[in-house]
Amino acid sequence: MDKEKVLERINLLRKEIERHNYLYYVLNTPEISDFEYDLLVEELKKLEELYPEFKSHKSPTQIIPTDHTKGFVQKKHYYPMLSLSNAYTPGELKEFITRTQKFVNEPIEYICELKFDGVSISLHYEDGFIKEALTRGDGEYGDDVLTNVLTIDSIPKQIKTDYKFLVVRGEIIMLKETFEKLNEERRKKNEVLFANPRNAAAGTLKTLDANIVKERNLQCFVYYLLGDEVKENNHSDRLNLLKNLKFNVPEWYQLCKTLDEMLDFIEYWEKLRKELPFEIDGVVIKVNSIRQQELIGLTAKSPRWAIAYKFKAEQATTKLLSISYQVGRTGIVTPVANLEPVFLAGTTVKRASLHNADQIKIKDIHIGDYVIIEKGGDIIPKVVGVDLSKRTESVQEVKFIEHCPECGSKLVRNEGEAAYYCPNINCPPQVKGRIEHFVQRKAMDIQGLGPETIDEMYEKKLVSKVTDLYKLTKEQLLQLEHFADKSSENLLRSIEQSKKVPYPRLLYALGIKYVGEVTAQKLADAFGDIDTLAKATKEDLMQVEEIGEKIAESVIAFFQNNENKNLIEELKKIGLQTKNEPKNKLSDKLNGLSIVVTGTFPEPYNRKKMEELVVLNGGKLLKGVSSNTTYIVAGEKPGPDKIKKAEQLKIPIITQEEFLKKLGII
Ligand code: IVH
Repeated sequence: MDKEKVLERINLLRKEIERHNYLYYVLNTPEISDFEYDLLVEELKKLEELYPEFKSHKSPTQIIPTDHTKGFVQKKHYYPMLSLSNAYTPGELKEFITRTQKFVNEPIEYICELKFDGVSISLHYEDGFIKEALTRGDGEYGDDVLTNVLTIDSIPKQIKTDYKFLVVRGEIIMLKETFEKLNEERRKKNEVLFANPRNAAAGTLKTLDANIVKERNLQCFVYYLLGDEVKENNHSDRLNLLKNLKFNVPEWYQLCKTLDEMLDFIEYWEKLRKELPFEIDGVVIKVNSIRQQELIGLTAKSPRWAIAYKFKAEQATTKLLSISYQVGRTGIVTPVANLEPVFLAGTTVKRASLHNADQIKIKDIHIGDYVIIEKGGDIIPKVVGVDLSKRTESVQEVKFIEHCPECGSKLVRNEGEAAYYCPNINCPPQVKGRIEHFVQRKAMDIQGLGPETIDEMYEKKLVSKVTDLYKLTKEQLLQLEHFADKSSENLLRSIEQSKKVPYPRLLYALGIKYVGEVTAQKLADAFGDIDTLAKATKEDLMQVEEIGEKIAESVIAFFQNNENKNLIEELKKIGLQTKNEPKNKLSDKLNGLSIVVTGTFPEPYNRKKMEELVVLNGGKLLKGVSSNTTYIVAGEKPGPDKIKKAEQLKIPIITQEEFLKKLGII
């Protein structure tokens, strides 16, 4: 390969890996399996070794990905939260054993455990009380999700121990059964499905509403204990101690001395994994003696004394017959593989996702190839690669379509995004998708209007935009299949009732790209009514908590579109709620003031209440510090960046007490 090509490949791999890190750690919606991900990283590492001139400290091979989420306070881990290196073959496991033995001149005993497929958590106990629960984050700082973790029954809130400080590490998981029920409910409500129990657990742990977390019934398995005072000399003794302290310590672990014993354990669980009520994705092998662990040591990213032996996802190989293209509600065009039917993990598969044009290129997929497919969780299977040994001369290159298969518009691609879009907002699947989204329970909650009816209404030209729903008559409904007197009246009543749906839900119902329920609520809180929101600049929008550049740009694009402008006018005429219901204001004392609240605050005025006080007294609540900020109210552990910026800009920083005094509360 010439150097230019190498660099091109390196850049492509870096971009892809970063995108997958974001999908996995932040959005909790991975597109590829761990195995495929590791392959990309391995390839990049190899190229960087072969061509050191292209090494970069910014490469994803040098940076630990992070799960930091807005809305949570970041705290430092007492001990860095490392990940594990992976092995996929007995040979790699053998290398691990040899490596560990090089550091220790005596026999080593290993503990083999199940590798739970969930989200890692670090629980901090001080004087026997749980004080913090941090996600991995970037390994050094994690998000404190304690409020959510407190709802998990299997995590003790208080433990009987003389150790002053303990760090207990484990995995938060969702049982397969809970996951299936949750997705079933989401399917019924027309909500986006979680890809697998891991994503459901991760998404749940990062919700800002602890009640939702409680409902979702998460579990926690613990597998690692740390603490400067801890005397137990073996990992297995530490697991026993944790068990005695009433932690949920998995019972499926085994002491192994040889490679064969480990391989037996691995083989046993690879076969049995389907029977377990939760998902595992491999086996973790750890050196049992803590003294030996210390001798063997750590690398920057992972301990040298442990390894994860990863199971491969079940795969099948079949012929790629053709590619179809699906257009979604937001116009994204997804290539779908039409396959020669093949049996995989319980079902016959005929179609699989190819994700996007880049994925087709990066995997070098041709029509007529034998492709390897895998089930990524419960939703549509995906093509993970090509079996090149079966490639024939007759395969054909994939030419990604340039025009929308539904309406013929020229497709577009936004910079930095892998997907192609159909830019025509009147394209049929987009129109129908927007109506489906609008009527959802958590949006306008219009009952009796499923996708088939929407299809039929669209075909019969009764609706082509959401506002048309409000013009429907009983006579028109009676022309539709399955509609009689009663069902027509019910639907019309439900449509009428939707006029009272509060503004934040209407804002969500409009289906603005990247504006989910939570974001819609935040936008409604910050800008009060739809006209003010429509006029907001990118800077205004980015001042709001949880609104980043991508969301801000999408909101602006939405309101700049002429058809959307007309739509908003129509919504107002129909009488939908386009402004917030007036809250019971307490006073006008903070009128015209822009205030930033940072850190944690003691009860009864916790962080949330402090923020409410700002708004209810007429103030504007800002996320970031700028020259427009009037003052900052700082609690315990305030955001260091905010304080630094306030000091630079000479913006006053006041305490909770001073703030409450200003309001006359104390
Ligand atoms: S031990 C320093 N044990 O897998 C050792 N990790 O891919 C800390 N995991 O970060 C980890 N089951 O989130 C350990 N029995 C187990 C595990 C386990 C699942 C997770 C954990 C870790 C990740 C590495």
